Amino acid sequence: MRVLVTGAAGFIGSHLVEFLLAHGHDVVGVDCFRPHYDVEARQHNLAEVQESPFAAQRFSFFTEDLATADLGPLLEGTSAVFHLAGRPGVRDSWGSSFSSYLHDNIFVTQRIAEGMLEFGVPRIVFASSSSVYGELGDRVKAGEHDEPRPLSPYGVTKLAAERLLLSYQDCFGIDVVALRYFTIYGPRQRNDMAIQKFIQAGLRKEKIFVYGDGTQQRALTFVEDCVRATIAGLSLPPAVYNVAGEKVVSLHQILDVIDAALPEPLQRVYSARQAGDVSATVADTSRLQASGFAAVVPFEEGIAQQVATEKKHFALLLERA
Ligand SMILES: NC(=O)c1ccc[n+]([C@@H]2O[C@H](COP(=O)([O-])OP(=O)(O)OC[C@H]3O[C@@H](n4cnc5c(N)ncnc54)[C@H](O)[C@@H]3O)[C@@H](O)[C@H]2O)c1
Repeated sequence: MRVLVTGAAGFIGSHLVEFLLAHGHDVVGVDCFRPHYDVEARQHNLAEVQESPFAAQRFSFFTEDLATADLGPLLEGTSAVFHLAGRPGVRDSWGSSFSSYLHDNIFVTQRIAEGMLEFGVPRIVFASSSSVYGELGDRVKAGEHDEPRPLSPYGVTKLAAERLLLSYQDCFGIDVVALRYFTIYGPRQRNDMAIQKFIQAGLRKEKIFVYGDGTQQRALTFVEDCVRATIAGLSLPPAVYNVAGEKVVSLHQILDVIDAALPEPLQRVYSARQAGDVSATVADTSRLQASGFAAVVPFEEGIAQQVATEKKHFALLLERA
């Protein structure tokens, strides 16, 4: 099957392309290397994808901004779109950078939907976010039936993109699988995300800044589990699904597990909680589980893999210095 992956050089997108190639698919990738975080890291992600055994025969890549790209070469003959391109990150979404969230999360999604109609692409698997939920309040877990109440402009744009795609589904019959990812971690994690920042600072023996008191709870998802759920999106009944890992952990627990995998413990500096950070993300994953999917990678093992990858990168940097 020929599929399009948007955001193919990104953290999750690059893993997804590798898995799709390994599962026998022909993959078209597109990314414009937005500078919201380390561009070099994404060039490295893409280089690793291009070295994978099937890439030469079955992977083509376009460096294009989806807001202006000619969609024909991307969408013609394609059976499904994995739409991961977007502007992630809760904290930066306040203030003047909001326009880039509108552009990359909403406008680009509308363009993809129009392109799907024009080129007859029947299905989209969309990378939505737990940020659409906002605070849990009295609820124990966030479920897909709950009324979303995002606590950040980022969450608002992801919810708008979901709703936009659902309106194309209702009016024009495309199939939409919207996956609400709960904090994804693992090798290649964006270096504006907490776990990667902590690991990199730990290896450099720098202080880390912990926002809030460390008791915030997070449902974390290892990237391999996330990618398996995303590929399952090719055959899942069209709907919104929560995607989350096997357990919920506090920020303190995350730091302790990272400490155990590093040569020296992290130097923690505590500061105020940031606007838009929710106190807990806990997912009801029963809908996805009912379709036969379960996250399998234990948290400690996932962190160990991420730390091991960063140790290798750090050793290479030291060698070059
Ligand atoms: N990482 C997480 O924990 C997480 C959680 C929930 C949802 N998501 C969503 O999953 C998706 C992937 O996240 P990620 O962490 O891999 O982010 P990422 O930033 O590593 O990947 C997104 C990629 O999209 C590209 N992109 C952005 N706008 C584009 C445009 N107009 N044209 C072409 N390419 C464009 C960027 O250059 C980037 O490489 C995002 O949509 C994000 O909102 C991620």
